[in-house]
Amino acid sequence: MWIANKKSELQAHLSTCKEPVILVPTMGALHPGHASLISLAKEQAGDTGTVIVSIFVNPIQFDRGSDLESYPRPLDTDLELCERHGADGIFVPDTGEVYSPDRSVTVIESSLSSYLCGATRPGHFDGVCTVVLKLFNLSRCDAAVFGEKDFQQLAIIRRMIRDLDLGVEIIPHPTVREDDGLAMSSRNERLIPEHRNDAPRIQKALLEASKQGTPEKILRVAGDLIEASPYARIDYLSLVDSETLLPVDRLSAPSVLACAVFYGDVRLIDHIDIPARKQ
Ligand code: PAF
Repeated sequence: MWIANKKSELQAHLSTCKEPVILVPTMGALHPGHASLISLAKEQAGDTGTVIVSIFVNPIQFDRGSDLESYPRPLDTDLELCERHGADGIFVPDTGEVYSPDRSVTVIESSLSSYLCGATRPGHFDGVCTVVLKLFNLSRCDAAVFGEKDFQQLAIIRRMIRDLDLGVEIIPHPTVREDDGLAMSSRNERLIPEHRNDAPRIQKALLEASKQGTPEKILRVAGDLIEASPYARIDYLSLVDSETLLPVDRLSAPSVLACAVFYGDVRLIDHIDIPARKQ
């Protein structure tokens, strides 16, 4: 497995790589959820293709400086996990390598990012789109694997690919969960034990709510179950159309119940699909 810190090193490796090139973009602090993304990339790349994992904590997608500073960066264990799951190469640049100090071009997605995480994290998805476009360009990938856990991110990246004709295929991977149902996230490690024990209530609340018959009941049940926690604080809880991400007041089309919940200063996200109901 090769490791490139510089764009020029990445280009040198790419000149000897076989297609298809499949990118797994990450910010490191890799957990078994990421391992599944890398394994899926390997499966799709087949015997001859190339799997590249990028590890880059992208400063321009963080809206809180404290979150950026405390983001875990266990590079040695990350590299070991990548190798074990079949990555062929790793791109691990520093900030100066990715962004010029006087950079002045940003990708702005102006529709799907207005809601959910975008509403409470201004500029976050512009930062994500900008770095993902750069990583697509630098890796010249044919396809990229993204987790469905970040379903708004996935919808926005698909929109960017469509609107900018990037021609990169998206390979989605279902949310990977701990045994107790908590969606895997690099942030889970920062939960104190009381919060970690309580956090599986998020998925339980979404599952229970998804059995209800109207949008009002769905939102009420999920909200009540999460707010019954002495620790959890809802950042948002919304029922949105699965394509437009606009809030819905009917269940006539497939929708998504999505939430972000704070435990202390750790913000966790999760969602559940709500199929359309017969009217
Ligand atoms: O999902 C993530 O880890 C990040 O948002 C991504 C896609 C690697 C861009 O920095």
